[in-house]
Amino acid sequence: MRRRLIAVLVGVVVLVLAVQDLPLVGHLRVVERDRLVTRLERDAFILAGRVEEDLEAGTADDNAVLLGLVERYEVSEDVSVVVTDTRALAVLGPDFDVGEDFSNRPEILEALAGRPETGERDSVTLGQRLFYVSVPVLSGDGVVGAVRITAPASRVDEEVADRLWGLGLVVAISVAIAAFAALVMAWTVTRPLSRLSESAARLAGGSLSERAPEGEGPPEVRSLARRFNLMAEQIELLVARQRAFAGTASHQLRTPLTALRIRLESLAAASDGVSSDPALTEHIQEAIAETDRLHRMIEGLLALTRAEEAGLAPVEVDLAAIAAERIDYWAPLAGERGVELRLRGDDPEIALAVAGSVEQIIDNLVDNALDVAPLGSEILLEVERAGERTELRIIDAGPGLSETDRDMAFDRFWRAPGATPGGSGLGLAIVRQLAESAGGSARLDAAATGGVAAVVSLRRPEGR
Ligand SMILES: Nc1ncnc2c1ncn2[C@@H]1O[C@H](COP(=O)(O)OP(=O)(O)OP(=O)(O)O)[C@@H](O)[C@H]1O
Ligand SMILES: [Mg+2]
Repeated sequence: MRRRLIAVLVGVVVLVLAVQDLPLVGHLRVVERDRLVTRLERDAFILAGRVEEDLEAGTADDNAVLLGLVERYEVSEDVSVVVTDTRALAVLGPDFDVGEDFSNRPEILEALAGRPETGERDSVTLGQRLFYVSVPVLSGDGVVGAVRITAPASRVDEEVADRLWGLGLVVAISVAIAAFAALVMAWTVTRPLSRLSESAARLAGGSLSERAPEGEGPPEVRSLARRFNLMAEQIELLVARQRAFAGTASHQLRTPLTALRIRLESLAAASDGVSSDPALTEHIQEAIAETDRLHRMIEGLLALTRAEEAGLAPVEVDLAAIAAERIDYWAPLAGERGVELRLRGDDPEIALAVAGSVEQIIDNLVDNALDVAPLGSEILLEVERAGERTELRIIDAGPGLSETDRDMAFDRFWRAPGATPGGSGLGLAIVRQLAESAGGSARLDAAATGGVAAVVSLRRPEGR
């Protein structure tokens, strides 16, 4: 953004200068030409005044003083001078022979007719374009000769080019000032704006405590930063309230639910042997199972609220060691279901996670895998480095899930149609939340076994 601003400002300045200076170059040419004409005409008339007497007396060709004067003038002005008599024959001119005929030069004939003449023409003799001034040498009322001064036409261009250097310098200084002004503007306006944009991105990324610096940049940007901070405060407050509500509500539901379960159990005990209706006993047992499900759901919601509030700095944990420990814990239950749990790779693998969260993650994923693992199959726990992260994979040989279901499975309360009864649909939501609170991620992949590979990817501490 900063670079674009500088480019735009410099571009605008260059454009303005071009619009303004291009006609100026044309104008400069005209002015320079006029200046040259005026100067040469003046010199030609002065010279005409000096040669008048000698021309009349016919002694111009051997006046050494006059010749010296003309020679010095030619050298200092870088021009060529010729003085002719009324027959257009040269009488003085260091570059020409005395007596050389100039009657085929129209400007000399014009001067001899009493009319000063200036202009440009191609010179056959010199093979270049000439700029000339020719004036009559007057004596009384009559014309006694002509003085012509010539310079290469490129002289005008050279003088214009000299002027253009000055103009170029002005352009360069203007562009430099524009670039400097753009830099200052970029520093004072775009820098606070990009800071604000970074803050907005962090807020959008879930960092609700993010605030933008309020004291930087022009008043409009400061006011924007203040409003942004007000908005961030509101969002943080609303989210905190909502979480607190979910937490308290779940917590408050626990007690009546426990009481309900106790009553159902005593009802079951009381009816046992009294009622001969087996359907009644069955209903009571189903009601107990439902309260258990409700209980698990409430525990899940509480776990989710705690994971969201975690905000704790991640710590270094050994994924392989925790996986081995959880396998020991789950092995008896798996054994009952005829399923084997195996760990691949038992070298220590250090990753960053919120304390205690890896255990919860593995428990949820193994629980899911056990729900679908066929008799005699194996559930594989893998811990492996993947680029800058370390991945924990739990792979089952169950029926698997379609791609859309694998995404949806992380939604709260989502359960596949026909999933094993009793679940709350919160397990994977908790897994993802726990992984994300340590800067990691969680996903379900299709496994080569046909089942699901649940993958949790965690950051590694620097240098590990
Ligand atoms: N390994 C798996 N293979 C097949 N389907 C799975 C697997 N893991 C999860 N699922 C599907 O995703 C759904 C959601 O899983 P999740 O763990 O979030 O909830 P749950 O297991 O139903 O309940 P809870 O974990 O709260 O007891 C499950 O109901 C199941 O349908
Ligand atoms: Mg589950």
